[in-house]
Amino acid sequence: VNNFYITGGRRLEGVVNISGSKNAVLPILAATILADTTCFLDNVPDLLDVEVMKNVLLLLGAKIEVGGNSLSIKTDEIVIPKISEELAQKMRASNLVMGPLLAKHGSVKVPYPGGCSIGNRPMDIHIKGLSALGARFTEKSGGYIEARADALHGAKIHLDFPSVGATENIMMAASIAQGTTVIFNAAREPEINDLQNFLNAMGADIQGAGTDIIIINGVKRLKGCRHSVIPDRIEAGTFMAAAAITGGRILLKNTKAQHLESFIAKLEETGVDVKIKEGEIEVIGRNELAPVDFTTMPYPGFPTDLQAPMMSLLAIAQGTSIIKETIFEKRYQHVGELVRMGANIKVEDRIAVIKGVKRLSGARVAATDLRAGAALVLAGLAAEGCTVVEETLHIHRGYEKFVEKIKALGGAIEEEAY
Ligand code: UD1
Repeated sequence: VNNFYITGGRRLEGVVNISGSKNAVLPILAATILADTTCFLDNVPDLLDVEVMKNVLLLLGAKIEVGGNSLSIKTDEIVIPKISEELAQKMRASNLVMGPLLAKHGSVKVPYPGGCSIGNRPMDIHIKGLSALGARFTEKSGGYIEARADALHGAKIHLDFPSVGATENIMMAASIAQGTTVIFNAAREPEINDLQNFLNAMGADIQGAGTDIIIINGVKRLKGCRHSVIPDRIEAGTFMAAAAITGGRILLKNTKAQHLESFIAKLEETGVDVKIKEGEIEVIGRNELAPVDFTTMPYPGFPTDLQAPMMSLLAIAQGTSIIKETIFEKRYQHVGELVRMGANIKVEDRIAVIKGVKRLSGARVAATDLRAGAALVLAGLAAEGCTVVEETLHIHRGYEKFVEKIKALGGAIEEEAY
């Protein structure tokens, strides 16, 4: 296990290349199960979560070849629709193989998902949706979800909440079901568009991604294709926050500003200058930050994944900010750690009140989940003195070459085993 050792106070300046999106590539990897021939993926980020999903596919019988950030995946020999408990516990996203396995192989058995410890992560919306397509779930003890399906058929599905994972699972399963499926109240995240583009390139007939109604006309079979994964908007937002919190200046390349509009609007409210060009975003920090209020919401609202990084920034703003987290109930685990660094933050239920302090001071803190970890690194970069971030495994789940990228921008950060 490694710790990050950060000496704060340096402005981050320079150019950073944004990697492919973690949340886009995970469902796309799962969707390769549906293909009859080889899939080729480009701009695949080298992350722990991607490694786990690759292992899930290998375990199922897939053949994978890796060359840098490109992959080829052959899934036509998959026979055992089962995933080891150990693997699935590591990552909630392995539940994304449920839809494809049911549609292509007629049965699935997966353990209840692990992943970040950011609250209850029930599966009811996934189960309801796949049941509407004809899957039969058997509730078994022992923490497994088990289902069978002879043939899936189209259905009208109203989601209780625009769940990202449930929308993706239903899209994948419905793509080779018989007839038409309509998903109402679908998630509208850019990762859903990327999945639609990938599935359509495989021969699927899907439209509506990016709106709250998605229409899937089932086709008989899907073939392999070549696809390049969209840039990671959360990684981009994290580096934008890094420029802001250190009063630095960072040019992000390989990014899409249109995926970050709600975040950019809030960042600009803090007084930071954001310049948008084709495929690039430049953030020019300043010495004083204004407080802002925001509520996390499904896309296109403020993304819950950038709540923690934004909170680090507001911890040193000149005034009081109020955050409301509506997506995940336990997503304030970074608060206690930020307080150890001198922040003044109070949490009551889903509301966090942040009274900006002059400066944060270095401390020994723990990354309790992926985005909390990123937030603590940002706080460390701006704090006085040395910050040690423990449990950095969580950060490696979702950020490619995080330490190298920060170092290249002039940040004083080292990763060392202890
Ligand atoms: C995805 C992202 C994650 C992001 C989240 C919200 C991936 C791999 N992960 O997670 O980074 O933070 O979207 O933008 O893409 N819920 C239910 N029942 C269900 C499913 C979800 O109650 O069956 C609840 C969850 O507990 C949570 C909320 O709905 O409170 C949002 O979950 P969902 O949109 O499904 O998030 P994920 O797909 O897990």
